[in-house]
Amino acid sequence: MTQELTSPSPAPQAPGTGRGPGWWRDAVIYQVYVRSFADSDGDGIGDLRGARERLPHLKDLGVDAVWLTPFYASPQADGGYDVADYRAVDPLFGTLQDADELIRAAHDLGLRVIVDIVPNHTSDRHPWFQDPELARQRYLFRPGKGGSGELPPNDWESVFGGPAWTRTDHGDWYLHLFAPEQPDLNWDNPEVHAEFEAIMRFWLDLGVDGFRVDVAHGMIKAPGLPDIGHGAQAQLIGAQVLPFFDQDGVHAIHRAWRRLLDGYGDARGKQVIGVAEAWAPTAERLALYVRPDELHQAFNFQFLNAPWQSDALRSVIDASLAATASVGAPTTWVLSNHDVVRHTTRLGGSLARARAAALLMLALPGSAYLYQGEELGLPEVTDLPDEVRQDPAFFRGGRATGAVGPGTDTESAPDGAAAGGQDGFRDGCRVPLPWSGELPPYGFGPGGSWLPQPADWGGLTVAAQTGDPASTLELYRAALELRRRLPGLGDGPMSWAPAPDGVLALTRPGLLCTVNTLGHDVGLPAPGTPLLSSAPVTVDDATAQLPGDSCTWWAI
Ligand code: GLC
Repeated sequence: MTQELTSPSPAPQAPGTGRGPGWWRDAVIYQVYVRSFADSDGDGIGDLRGARERLPHLKDLGVDAVWLTPFYASPQADGGYDVADYRAVDPLFGTLQDADELIRAAHDLGLRVIVDIVPNHTSDRHPWFQDPELARQRYLFRPGKGGSGELPPNDWESVFGGPAWTRTDHGDWYLHLFAPEQPDLNWDNPEVHAEFEAIMRFWLDLGVDGFRVDVAHGMIKAPGLPDIGHGAQAQLIGAQVLPFFDQDGVHAIHRAWRRLLDGYGDARGKQVIGVAEAWAPTAERLALYVRPDELHQAFNFQFLNAPWQSDALRSVIDASLAATASVGAPTTWVLSNHDVVRHTTRLGGSLARARAAALLMLALPGSAYLYQGEELGLPEVTDLPDEVRQDPAFFRGGRATGAVGPGTDTESAPDGAAAGGQDGFRDGCRVPLPWSGELPPYGFGPGGSWLPQPADWGGLTVAAQTGDPASTLELYRAALELRRRLPGLGDGPMSWAPAPDGVLALTRPGLLCTVNTLGHDVGLPAPGTPLLSSAPVTVDDATAQLPGDSCTWWAI
């Protein structure tokens, strides 16, 4: 049936629409998960030199910046999110000189570079934790409960499963919200603040353009470390404020960092940013992290978790835009990262939906993060043998991440599993990228790959998709090219246009974007000339047929 698209209704806007003063307000930022991006030395593990050699791919793709996941000295108990030395590069990934060369090479190509900072916890191999006296000042040690202190100090559970406390040989316990190898720092100690500011300056001096703040909602714990009172706490992350997550006290830290970032940038005529990985229960609480004097961006995990249904998508988009507009910030969209099931698989194992979701995301006002491999339409790998797994959550029986919280699309997941992956753990989204060739390691490097790549990825490589107009890679390239060419995309106004059930229609300056979330064609009066579509769209006698699970950008 053909239905009308009429009378747009404005979506909530940030004050001062149009291209704001910050590069980050509408930047498309590509996440490089270093160990799985490109390997230069044949050990099967991606490294900084490999990443540098592959930067032209990112330039051709058309992104504005790169976020590099941790490459710091680390025993790798949690893929490098257990840092033993924040100023050193782990030999697995190269040297400080390699980091310097990568940052310079990126800048030469016009790409900004964001690095991870991990302030909630260090590695248990960090020199501070290795020294018992220092450790007791700079981490969270408490006496145990029970007659002889044999019980943990409270009932908190680790995100990765099991108690959040481990007892030491001295008889007391230390807190670790993640693995036991990741003790939580004591942010009541000013030395901890000073150290992280110094670490930031170290990387800023090497030329980075910002930081992705790991567990940005975690550093401050409720006074007295109160019990929660029931188990399965990981399921509450992102659903409610917990005594260990999203405490109001974290905002003072973000304000101090914003002062540091602004001061550093102002002195050098550049803008350096912070992006929060924060699991907040509502869009309003997430927006607190991007108040004008706090961080610049915060990943919108509510959008990531939205089911593939037009009403749900629209309400999450509206709530996100309203919340960030209330503090004058843009929204930061994301569909995939190294902690969640790749969205091709999460959205019902449907590449069509994944492509449509990407075009929708890139049509929305604000910034967007892409996770390496989504531009190739990579699915989650769901048949990894246990012996190759490395995710600490797999071994501790916890869950993959707090990012996949309430609202996960269980309906459309192929097997009804929480996130549609193998079993919710994170190795399946971390399989090394296929670059070229018909056989593993598909040009990933001169050796093998630390996780096995599927035998049928030959058609998904960068080389195989390049130049094929039907490929997902060319779809992303075209979308990013249009985003650059159309001045109203990015940080500009947006309105909803009426649309039939199951279809979304939104307008941006000069553009209308339709999304058909239904599994079948829907006819509409053609709203304009198709510019780009995730699936072939036909226009006949001024009637457009939107294919099922598709997104189309129209010139209006
Ligand atoms: C963040 C990271 C995740 C890591 C955790 C602990 O959620 O994205 O990979 O396991 O923090 O550092």
